[in-house]
Amino acid sequence: MKRHVLAIADLATDEIEEIFRRAEAMEARLARGERPSDATGAIMATLFYEPSTRTRLSFEAAMWRLGGAVISASDMKSSSAAKGETLADTAKVVSSYADLLVLRHFWDGAARLASEHADVPVINAGDGSHEHPTQTLCDLYTLKRAKGSLKGLTVAVGGDLKRGRTVHSLVRALARFGANIVIVPVRGLEFPRWLLESLAEQHGYTPRVARPEDVRALAHDVHALYLTPAKPHQLALFTDVEFDLGAGLANAEPITLDALYMTRQQRERRESDGEETGEYLRVDAQTFQDPSMRNTLLMHPLPRTGEIAATLDRDPRSIYFRQAAAGVPVRMALITFVLEQRGRGTQPAVPRDPGVLRAGPLCGNPNCITRREEVVSEQRFRLHREAGGRAHLVCLYCDHEVRIQVIGNRKSKHFHVYEEPMYGYLDAWARDATLQIFDSVKQAEEAGFKPYKLGPQKSIMDAAQVDASIRTLTEAILADTRELNDLVIVGIKTAGAFIARRIADHIRELRGAEIEVGVIDVHGGAHSIRPWPGGDTEGAPPVEVAEKVVVLIDDVINTGWTTKEALSVIWRSGRPRAARLAVLIDRGHRQLPIKPTYVGKHLPTAPFERVRVRLRELDREHKDKVVIYSTVDPKAAA
Ligand code: NCD
Repeated sequence: MKRHVLAIADLATDEIEEIFRRAEAMEARLARGERPSDATGAIMATLFYEPSTRTRLSFEAAMWRLGGAVISASDMKSSSAAKGETLADTAKVVSSYADLLVLRHFWDGAARLASEHADVPVINAGDGSHEHPTQTLCDLYTLKRAKGSLKGLTVAVGGDLKRGRTVHSLVRALARFGANIVIVPVRGLEFPRWLLESLAEQHGYTPRVARPEDVRALAHDVHALYLTPAKPHQLALFTDVEFDLGAGLANAEPITLDALYMTRQQRERRESDGEETGEYLRVDAQTFQDPSMRNTLLMHPLPRTGEIAATLDRDPRSIYFRQAAAGVPVRMALITFVLEQRGRGTQPAVPRDPGVLRAGPLCGNPNCITRREEVVSEQRFRLHREAGGRAHLVCLYCDHEVRIQVIGNRKSKHFHVYEEPMYGYLDAWARDATLQIFDSVKQAEEAGFKPYKLGPQKSIMDAAQVDASIRTLTEAILADTRELNDLVIVGIKTAGAFIARRIADHIRELRGAEIEVGVIDVHGGAHSIRPWPGGDTEGAPPVEVAEKVVVLIDDVINTGWTTKEALSVIWRSGRPRAARLAVLIDRGHRQLPIKPTYVGKHLPTAPFERVRVRLRELDREHKDKVVIYSTVDPKAAA
């Protein structure tokens, strides 16, 4: 059995502790001038497709110090990769020259792919924005030695949490060791959803969020880092509809940080689509002057690019050079651990989900190895059901979430556009291996699948009733809004946006005021609020919501997922003074704790029923109406 270390989850907590014990012993042996021979005769290959100083050199130093030998391709431009060789082939070939392969690559999931082809254990030395488990071992080892224990520590992680692979591995490990995590994201560089979801799923843990301003404020007038009590501050998991920052901070509690872990901005991984980010974090001697930071250690995986002032280097609380130095003994310990496991038949610590889906759609992450290279493994995704009831796929290579678009049954050869009420089928078909997931209806049709019949439709509201409901919503919004200048109405594309437009038009009729209308295209993956009518306004600046009262409009709350996504777009676009939610129809069995402030009509429905709002702007018949129909014919699905 090859024991790969592709992610921090591949090492059990007691194994990590064992590695730390060995690392301490290695340090002692090196200090005594011993020349260990634990890896005599073994060869380690290092394949680095991305620049590295610390990781590669400390791995190589570790192997030499263990009496082993190293072969290295440090610059893949001078290897066959430059001739177009696949990672799979390179991994296969090099593994026949060595006993261990250490890989750094720019694509997420590259280490897993290499491990599927290599005949020897693979250690991930950083794969794109995904994970960097051995850096985490160095970080935890250093932190534990400085503080005695990891349990109960409060560690803030700041900077580029979106693409920083070191923090992706670090927070998972911290959660496992019982440390408290505070996240200090820069706007636009927050932790990805898939990571927060997996923290919640695997460790039952939701980190708290502090704002960069809070950390910066320490340098001035604030004498502690204040955090709002867990819930409303969570940028990416933002579920509270009415969020009042002032009130949130009034209930804030001061905390003491045991460590602040900074990261640099991963500029080389930026998407080209002009992503907007807030001001980057920087800590200096002044930040650390505050009495509340007396025992706060300052950490960084390095290289730093201005986040930590050099004046802090001599401060005894700065331990980033110790983290780098730990690279040698920790990697010595890891190498002996991995080499010893050869032929032992041990299973990985955290059993890897074998994956439920044989073929399946493409991973949505453009940086995922599966989008870049042919993948032979048929197990590409696992099915994940969220606490709220929504289901999605998780890519086994890069951990990104993939939305489920179209599901089909291999046996009956029927497909259906997926909606959450169908989870039961999804789950059952996955279990009996008849599930097939498609990227689109077209793909399903091309594969010879036919649609399930929809149940009968029933009309619930006619044009006059829809109009009356929109007017009622308008009046309720007006009744709550003292200052119309502060109001911004944001509609969720498509129907929500038209309702938003109509509400703004009614306000103009009633009050003569011109209200700004924004559009969020949740399904189009939009990151910002576009000015009405959305879509072709790409060049225009996004709608400003900072300090405004935002009313988000949607047509139907089915499960709440769309609204939650839209709320986090609003939240990331600036800090509204308040955010409220208005919906034309509330079905009453939403799965997320989102409660609309304004509801046009309450329409209790069964889970398998679907409510559809058809608006004259969108409908061929040019009439408003609301219909209800059932989504699956259970007999056809059986
Ligand atoms: C990190 C990396 O490469 O991910 N560096 C390291 O391994 N010490 C961090 C970084 O590059 O920002």
